[in-house]
Amino acid sequence: MNQHTNPDREARNILIANDRGGYTIPTEGLYPYQWNWDSAIAALGFAEFDIDRAWTEIETLFSGQWDDGMVPHILFHQQDDGYFPGPDVWGGHGPIPSSGIIQPPVAATVARKIWEKDGGAGEDRIRTLFPALLAWHRWIMKWRLDDHGAVCTTHPWEAGRDNAPDWDKAMEGVDPTGVGEYQRRDTSHVNSADRPTKYDYDRYIKLVQIGCEVDWDQQKLLSLNLFRVADPTMTFITLRAARDLMVISDKLGIAADGVSDDIQKLEEGARSLWNEALNSFDSRDALTGEWAGSVSNASYLCWYAGLESQSMLERLQGTLANVPFPVPSYDPAMPNFDQRRYWRGPTWGFMNMLIGFGLVDMGHLPEAEVLRQKTSQLIATNGFAEYYDPLIGSPAGGNSFTWTAAVWLHWAGRK
Ligand code: SER
Repeated sequence: MNQHTNPDREARNILIANDRGGYTIPTEGLYPYQWNWDSAIAALGFAEFDIDRAWTEIETLFSGQWDDGMVPHILFHQQDDGYFPGPDVWGGHGPIPSSGIIQPPVAATVARKIWEKDGGAGEDRIRTLFPALLAWHRWIMKWRLDDHGAVCTTHPWEAGRDNAPDWDKAMEGVDPTGVGEYQRRDTSHVNSADRPTKYDYDRYIKLVQIGCEVDWDQQKLLSLNLFRVADPTMTFITLRAARDLMVISDKLGIAADGVSDDIQKLEEGARSLWNEALNSFDSRDALTGEWAGSVSNASYLCWYAGLESQSMLERLQGTLANVPFPVPSYDPAMPNFDQRRYWRGPTWGFMNMLIGFGLVDMGHLPEAEVLRQKTSQLIATNGFAEYYDPLIGSPAGGNSFTWTAAVWLHWAGRK
């Protein structure tokens, strides 16, 4: 049964309702601030009906860029007690009080897409943004690479896949002693079975506290060896961003020194995430060298990064044929699969879109179209949820969700 008779209108209304003036919150209540990659995806949605507003979204995100080039994962524009951990816990650094970690850099790729849609009109906007995009790329190259050239996640929130099984082994090494009392807010907004556990939260908060103690000094954090996992989300998305930065720089005739060398380094890093025994791209603990053993939806971002893999294609074909509402964030055949719990099983529309972009770019059009249609059906039937149960399709997490609305407008709902 199709409960959503006019999803185009509904999607636009969600973006407009979540607009806080220059930036968009992911959803009311659960996430009341500006999140980095959520915002970039939101811009793709705005670009479908208000291109000026799309550019503004990215510009507001970069207005929170730190002097060293880092672009934080949350910008706390206005205090909201409904969210924990807020600016007081993070230390509130930056031109806008913010968190001290990043998120996968989808912004350069999104800026290129918006510019291509906007033709000549966007040239001034992208010309102004370009140095900021490049500075963020350089910050990642300086602080997040492992010895193989893969990009590391230094907090489970950094890859954006908070409680993915990818981090389970590395999280065992994080000692939460002394984290103290705190009150979670997420579980007062949504079902706790959809969210990370207390075991995870204690470690998330402990890592934030330690980062704060050293004032987010990256050199000190590196030497503390707390948590560092080379992961497909950060690596594939950074590689794709670097390729898009090169294209933008060529078109604008502005130098992007070092980026083509970076692309080679990142390609090596990305290939190093191939786990032969698992027959999949996987995460690897940069401190111990141990594989996570995780086939996640991020494993399928190889095409988005411009890398071919016949084994991943066959695996994807199996997933599209056998999982009722693909692509699950964790392989249902694996023992820790949990169909509702955030990044341990559920399907995320925006990840499907990124996978879809890659499939089209690399010429896998049938798979791209099946994925788009299945995502379209999932949203049209179950609404604009944060994520979905991959086995029964039911909505999970927050609702009236910005990035799911953007995914509909930009990709899933387009015939
Ligand atoms: N996703 C995290 C949260 O749930 C933070 O980025 O709060």
